Amino acid sequence: MRITIVGCGSKGSRLARAADEMNEVKRIYLVDQQKARAEKVAAELKKAIVVDSVEDELYHCDLVIEAATQSAAKEILSKVVSRGVDIMVMSVGSLVDDDFRKTVFDKAVVSEAKIFLPTGGLCGLDALRAAVQGEVSSVELITTKGPHALSGVQYLTDKGIDVDAIKEKTTVFSGTAREAVKIFPRNVNVAATVALMGIGFDRTKVTIVLDPAETGNSYDLQAAGVFGHFDAHTYNVPEPENAKNSHLAVLSAVAALKRICRNEWFGI
Ligand SMILES: NC(=O)c1ccc[n+]([C@@H]2O[C@H](COP(=O)([O-])OP(=O)(O)OC[C@H]3O[C@@H](n4cnc5c(N)ncnc54)[C@H](O)[C@@H]3O)[C@@H](O)[C@H]2O)c1
Repeated sequence: MRITIVGCGSKGSRLARAADEMNEVKRIYLVDQQKARAEKVAAELKKAIVVDSVEDELYHCDLVIEAATQSAAKEILSKVVSRGVDIMVMSVGSLVDDDFRKTVFDKAVVSEAKIFLPTGGLCGLDALRAAVQGEVSSVELITTKGPHALSGVQYLTDKGIDVDAIKEKTTVFSGTAREAVKIFPRNVNVAATVALMGIGFDRTKVTIVLDPAETGNSYDLQAAGVFGHFDAHTYNVPEPENAKNSHLAVLSAVAALKRICRNEWFGI
């Protein structure tokens, strides 16, 4: 397999290292808008070379991994699936725009490209995926983070919330997944994944709590419907390379990459 990774930050570099160790992967093309980052990652790997754009090797590529930003994902998704190449998307919030998502998914059907979304840093999505085959009345994602996880978020500044001044557990957002993904584009990709796998962006409720006692982050995914109800709690430690992300999120992406490359579909 030949893989192009767009974005060589904490997720992309970890995925590149995992791909480099896999027998199924023959070549890795690395793209980053800061080329030096791609070069640094490539220098440590056996199978990687740096290219300037995702389009450079698209005809020789079996899978693209987007690990950059929502805007990068929006830019490359159409190009990749139009050529019939599979893509794994990390910036899942890029799919919040209904028209954009429909266009991309329709193109993927025509070209027979697959769009993969890793489950991310929380448990319970397997149950949600099954539950929505019947009637589901409610889905809520409650995420608790250390205050600094949301430092620099404009929405909080506009609301007069100073994360450095938070001394006790404080709910800073409660709304729909659609609002959450737009307001916190880098922080709640899981909300987009939950919405897409569950009952959609407008019916999925998201609550964000900042807690100075929290050293990692936690997710509480709750759903109810004709199946019964569940409450899945995940306690995450931060990713070593990027404390704003959960370690489990990158492990889930590595696991997804292995399943895709090895064509293993246990527990689907
Ligand atoms: N789905 C999930 O479970 C999950 C979990 C955490 C983070 N994420 C998302 O994954 C993405 C990557 O996260 P990260 O922690 O690796 O970020 P990061 O900031 O460590 O790395 C992103 C890299 O992408 C590069 N980049 C930005 N725009 C680009 C473009 N247009 N073309 C090429 N390269 C570009 C940057 O230079 C940087 O090197 C983010 O959107 C993040 O929100 C997803």
